[in-house]
Amino acid sequence: MSESYRKWIEEKLVKLEAVDCYSAGATPETVAEQAGIPQSEIIKLNFNETMFISKAKLSALIKEVADEIDLRLYPEDEEVKLREKLSGYMKVPKDYLAVGNASDELIDRIVRLFVEKGDSGISFSPTFAIPRLCVKRQEGEWATVPLLSNLQLDVKGLISKFSDKTRLLYLCSPNNPTATQFKMEDVETLVKSFPGVVILDEAYGEFADYSFVPRIREFENMIILKTFSKAFGLAALRLGYGVANPELAKILTEKSPLPYPVSVFTLRMGCKMLDNIELMKKSVEQVKNERGKLIKALNEIDGIEAFDSQANFLLVNTRKPADEVYEKLLKRGIMLKKWGKLLQYDNCFRVTVGLPEMNAKLIETLKQIQGE
Ligand SMILES: Cc1ncc(COP(=O)(O)O)c(C=O)c1O
Repeated sequence: MSESYRKWIEEKLVKLEAVDCYSAGATPETVAEQAGIPQSEIIKLNFNETMFISKAKLSALIKEVADEIDLRLYPEDEEVKLREKLSGYMKVPKDYLAVGNASDELIDRIVRLFVEKGDSGISFSPTFAIPRLCVKRQEGEWATVPLLSNLQLDVKGLISKFSDKTRLLYLCSPNNPTATQFKMEDVETLVKSFPGVVILDEAYGEFADYSFVPRIREFENMIILKTFSKAFGLAALRLGYGVANPELAKILTEKSPLPYPVSVFTLRMGCKMLDNIELMKKSVEQVKNERGKLIKALNEIDGIEAFDSQANFLLVNTRKPADEVYEKLLKRGIMLKKWGKLLQYDNCFRVTVGLPEMNAKLIETLKQIQGE
């Protein structure tokens, strides 16, 4: 091995070691092992996955797609066909759409395209972490402004931090982890005052009261991100799309050095889901119905406060310390996302709205833990 390679790779490894990356945490397998219970009994409420379309139904659709495609061939017009179908679903022309390998990849693509070394990105806190990680990877700065105590946007605080180096504003609405959807006029004010590109992440939009998609023509600097991972229940598939004016949508579609970011299988499965849109609509109704019941039941437990939600998950604060509650839940096979201190609340968790039997188990277990 040459001297110069060794020197370079060692420096590189030190630099890469310092890169802040997403870590998913414990898996159902390890939790089951530690709790000494079968993996099939683990209640997974930590990733905001939607379980209401049955596995059997999704498998049947996957088999149909598998029979329709020829895996030996590179993608041809499948992406255009998906954009045509999305255009009908979203009620925007197809040149307003860009397709990606789920929202994470689209966020990464947007950051690579618009944020350069020395530029900065801005958002509020707390929110979804991926945009910050992507901006940091570009050697950009990341600024945040805390949400107000009512979990809404501090519009003035954010605007006061905009500068001609701030190239990206990330707004997640409904927000992960607070499940709040921001006031339409606040989002509008921010987008209109921002001197760069705005990502409005509507990953949970189908569970909320409104979407900005019908108003996309009013905002030349906004990209609305949508995903098949949440309402469509296809987190494993990795499919998402952006809605933006044709100038931005074209850049997103064409200015990537990689010709085939999304597989034919994924693109065709997206079309299949749109052909069976009632599955998603029914599942969203079920989530909303269960969400209401879960909030009510959790609020009836002494020492627990569950907040209103516009998403397929809830923010919950417990009187007992978050670490203690988290460990006790894990021992009983229940996985939640622990947040700990969040704004003025000390012991927060993010809880996915699960199937009725999953939620019942959570309620029963939290009652026991709060009573101990
Ligand atoms: C707000 C938000 N945006 C994007 C994502 C990533 O979604 P995708 O599966 O489309 O990459 C998540 C996942 O939890 C999320 O919470």
